[in-house]
Amino acid sequence: MAERIIITGGSGRLGRSVVAGFAATEHEIISIDRELPEHPVEGADHRAVDLLDAEATAALFAEISPTAVISLAAIAVPFAAPEDVILTTNAAIAQNVTAAAVGSGATTVVIASSPSIMGYGSPAGWVPPRLPLDEDVPPQPWHAYGLSKHVAEQVAAMFAQQTDAVKFMSFRPCYVIAPEEWEGAPTQQGHTLRERLDDPALSAVAMFNYVDARDVTDFLLAALEHSDAVENGSAFFVGAADALARRPLAELIPEHFPDLAHLAGDLTGDATAFSIEKARRVLGWEPKRSWRTELAH
Ligand SMILES: NC(=O)c1ccc[n+]([C@@H]2O[C@H](COP(=O)([O-])OP(=O)(O)OC[C@H]3O[C@@H](n4cnc5c(N)ncnc54)[C@H](O)[C@@H]3O)[C@@H](O)[C@H]2O)c1
Repeated sequence: MAERIIITGGSGRLGRSVVAGFAATEHEIISIDRELPEHPVEGADHRAVDLLDAEATAALFAEISPTAVISLAAIAVPFAAPEDVILTTNAAIAQNVTAAAVGSGATTVVIASSPSIMGYGSPAGWVPPRLPLDEDVPPQPWHAYGLSKHVAEQVAAMFAQQTDAVKFMSFRPCYVIAPEEWEGAPTQQGHTLRERLDDPALSAVAMFNYVDARDVTDFLLAALEHSDAVENGSAFFVGAADALARRPLAELIPEHFPDLAHLAGDLTGDATAFSIEKARRVLGWEPKRSWRTELAH
C-alpha cells in the first residue's frame, strides 16, 4: 500500500540515497532537513525546518500528515561537535521527531541509531560477552555520540510504552557507503574505500563493519512493509553480509583488539563482528552489495 513517508536528514550522506530509493517506489516522499539538498531528488518533496524547534517540527508534520516517519537527521560523527552539543542535539531531535510523528498520526516510526553505541574503541577497554555482536548484547557507549544514539533508541522504546497503536523501531547502520564512494569519492572519514581496505587500522575503528546505502534503503522498505512482525521499540543491526577486510576477522581482531582475541575464533572467512540475523529473520531482509563486487565495477 502506498504510504506518505517523511524522511528526516534527507540531504545527508545516507538520506540522499534513502530519499532517492524511496522516491522510486509507489510511496509519496517528503524529505525534511535543515538544509535543502544541492540536487533535489525528483519525485520527492523537499522541506526545510530545524528539527530542534519542537513547535515548528510538530506544525510541519501535522501539515504533511505522514503515515510513516524515518528519522535520519542528527550530528552523525563522534566528536564532530562538543560532547554536550552532540548529546543534547541528537536526543532532542529524536524526541521532537518522534513526538511530532505520533502527533501527526503516523503509524510507523524508524529512528537511526548506530553500532558505535556498543562501546568498541573505549580507551578504558571494552570486552563484550560474545562476537558477533547481536541486539541482545548490552550497549556500553563511551562517547556522547554513542550515548545520544542509545538515548534515541530509548526514545523509541519510551514511546512504545505509551501506545501500541504506533510501531517504533530503531536501526544501527554500519559504516555507510554511498554509491559514489565505490567509484572513489571520499567516505565519511575522508579516505577512500580502497584506502580503508588496504589499511586495516582504518576499518578497525568500526570493527570492520560497513553497509551500502542502497541496502539500508532496502532494509527500511522491509521494516515498513513488515512492521507488524517487529517487537515494538526494538532495534536492528543493519550491515553488509561480509566484513570490510581483506583478511578474516579471526586474524584481524586479535591484532587490533587484543582483549577480544578469545572471542574471534569463529570469525573465519568473510564473517562479520555484527550479526544481522535478526533483520533477516524478522523482516526477510538480505543485503545485496559487497565490496567484493561493488569495488570491481
Ligand atoms: N554514515 C554512517 O556511516 C552512519 C553510521 C551509523 C549511523 N548513522 C546515522 O545515520 C544518520 C544519517 O547519517 P549521515 O551519514 O547521512 O549523516 P549526515 O551528516 O550526512 O546527514 C545528517 C543530516 O541531518 C541534517 N540535520 C542535522 N541537524 C538537523 C536539524 N537540527 N534539523 C534538521 N536537519 C538536521 C543535516 O543537515 C544533514 O543533512 C544519522 O542519524 C547517523 O547518526 C550513520
